[in-house]
Amino acid sequence: MRDELGRKINYLRISVTDRCNLRCRYCMPPEGISKKEHDVMMTLEEAFEVVRACAALGIDKVRITGGEPLVRKGITGLIKRISGLSSVKDIALTTNGILLKQYAYDLKQAGLNRINVSLDTLDEAKYRDITRGGDLNQTLEGLREAQMVGLTPIKLNTVLIGGFNVDEIDSFLALTVTEPVDVRFIELMPLGQAGAWAKERFVSNSIILQKHPELIPLENEDKSSPAKYYRVPGAKGRIGFINPISHQFCSHCNRIRLTADGKLKPCLHSNQEIDVKAILRQEKPGEREQLLAQAVKQAVKGKPEQHGLNQEGCEPIGRDMFRIGG
Ligand code: 5AD
Ligand code: SF4
Repeated sequence: MRDELGRKINYLRISVTDRCNLRCRYCMPPEGISKKEHDVMMTLEEAFEVVRACAALGIDKVRITGGEPLVRKGITGLIKRISGLSSVKDIALTTNGILLKQYAYDLKQAGLNRINVSLDTLDEAKYRDITRGGDLNQTLEGLREAQMVGLTPIKLNTVLIGGFNVDEIDSFLALTVTEPVDVRFIELMPLGQAGAWAKERFVSNSIILQKHPELIPLENEDKSSPAKYYRVPGAKGRIGFINPISHQFCSHCNRIRLTADGKLKPCLHSNQEIDVKAILRQEKPGEREQLLAQAVKQAVKGKPEQHGLNQEGCEPIGRDMFRIGG
């Protein structure tokens, strides 16, 4: 599929739940979220129908996100069905890693190719603090298991936070020297929950390059990737920078999103939502397929040229990250 600006759209990100077993300070309110009424959320059966409609229109890459996707019961079953769609070439999942030790093998068996793991600190006490109670060792064990069963290449997502983990940049760089993992530093975005907090703690990724001129820039293999990659000389893994604020990558964007409550979103930062759950629940089976296809095309057509996050007076969207899928 091509959008109005000629961008090729081949990537669907699905959020399968807005719940999470952690409460990261920039993401979730401390009390968690009220469990949405059961029928507000899409069933995994319904999510699969949307994926199938997207795949028929040229989506060949799918990522499962949340909230925390591994808290959703039946998630391996969904992955198995998606991997059975012959046009889907790549299935990935973003997780906080807490349940990964338990699930890694089943996920691999179900056809999952690789994972991204969110990890903002390598210090046990700081991990407990930023996640409001998480156990770093569970995530580290999950990472080891994922490596062992071959959910690779593993990417770590590290949100750079002023006054919190800037002092750990060197440790993350060192990690890529000894381990075959990519560490991607993400700039903190002023979304929903993180709004005011994030503005105060925002640190530009560029400080890392300033402090580490030895980093070798790498050729960008995947033009649509939001990350710009570097390598510490001799390292096994790469260092990536995702700069949604200071450096826009909208012109190469190839993605659309599906929220856990059944809305297609043309862009993370757009408030436009197309209700596919209504189609799935109200229309007769025979008519659904065509209406779903129309909805997918509408989402692609609705993709804005760019977000306005770095423009003066821009209003961040109301939905939190856990409600969209990171
Ligand atoms: N800014 C930047 N990254 C965020 N994430 C969640 N909320 C924010 C935010 N406000 C990250 C998580 C995870 C990824 C899916 O999105 O840390 O790694
Ligand atoms: Fe959960 Fe990820 Fe949000 Fe942390 S950032 S609370 S792990 S969804």
